[in-house]
Amino acid sequence: MTPNAPELTQRWPAPRKIPVDLRRGKRRDSILRILDVLVSTQVKVAVLIHRDEPPENRIDEYKTTLTVSERTTVATDNDVVSLELRAPGGSDLERWYPGAHLDLYLPSGRIRQYSLCGDPADRRCYRIAVRRIPDGGGGSNEVHDELPVGTVVGVRGPRNAFGFVEPGRIERAKRVHFVAGGIGITPILPMVREAERMGLDWSLMYVGRERRTLPFLEELSSFGDRVTIRTDDEYGLPAANDLLPPNVRSGDAIYCCGPVPMMDLITACVRNEPGVEVHAERFSAAPVVDGRPFRIQLARTGQVIDVAADQTALDAVLRVNPKAPYSCRQGFCGTCMVHVSDGDVDHRDNSLSPAERAAGKMLLCVSRSNSPCLTVTT
Ligand code: FES
Repeated sequence: MTPNAPELTQRWPAPRKIPVDLRRGKRRDSILRILDVLVSTQVKVAVLIHRDEPPENRIDEYKTTLTVSERTTVATDNDVVSLELRAPGGSDLERWYPGAHLDLYLPSGRIRQYSLCGDPADRRCYRIAVRRIPDGGGGSNEVHDELPVGTVVGVRGPRNAFGFVEPGRIERAKRVHFVAGGIGITPILPMVREAERMGLDWSLMYVGRERRTLPFLEELSSFGDRVTIRTDDEYGLPAANDLLPPNVRSGDAIYCCGPVPMMDLITACVRNEPGVEVHAERFSAAPVVDGRPFRIQLARTGQVIDVAADQTALDAVLRVNPKAPYSCRQGFCGTCMVHVSDGDVDHRDNSLSPAERAAGKMLLCVSRSNSPCLTVTT
């Protein structure tokens, strides 16, 4: 425990009731089934993708509008800004838990997902942090340059695809190791606070190119030697064993967020350690696992689209209709939802309810088909 633990306990109280909806649905997706065959380690992967879309293709509905109430530079290279968002009337916001994210509807029409990195106990404020990607899709530049205090933005969420407090998960982990790469600290930060509050045995490895690029170093300093900072300019690129403590063993849980190569290193590191759980959030779409080719027929035009075994239905549709709406590519935002009027859907999301599935809803970015052809209305 760090010297600041009592204060943290006051500021970050546990949810009175463990949330039951952090991961809706009990079914494990196909990537997990395959990975269970390949390795004895459980790996769950969430995906956040940041990509521009033409504004006219976006779903306009959102749950609420919030106002940017504060902006703070949180890395010494000045390229990471944190934003606090509040309801215009100052009313309470929807409750959230560590690992949750918001869909942010930017004034340009872009939609971006950002992890909540503030205090879940503060119902008046959401905090996100965004690294500027100069040659990215434009969303980060817009957040940095065009969202001054007072700007009103649309928000959907919070939703959680990277849950930390979950029945049957953290309770059984004897120790928790967090690994964050750069801006990947954002979902991890509320988790380490929660781990500290729960009195868990935890550690954090925080990696990046240089110290000046790493956000929230000052906040993390309160946790003392539980946090290890490792930068490439001091130590070179990390190898797998550099990212985790040397004694990872059965019963440990690993939560990591960062670039794909970092996650691959971690997975490789624990591949032969039975009973180690790995929970990861990364910044690119996951590959299709256990896919079979099928066809999609567009109900309105009759056009038939081939979906290859290693291709998502969304990518196949985008090939013929680049304006098809999408956002997260992970099956949680609902932007790519279509209605299926014929065929047997292989649902691979954890978002749609049984009623929605029964009504013919399908998420093109992750779900596939058990039948040779699906007839869909986009
Ligand atoms: S793009 Fe978000 S659910 Fe498909």
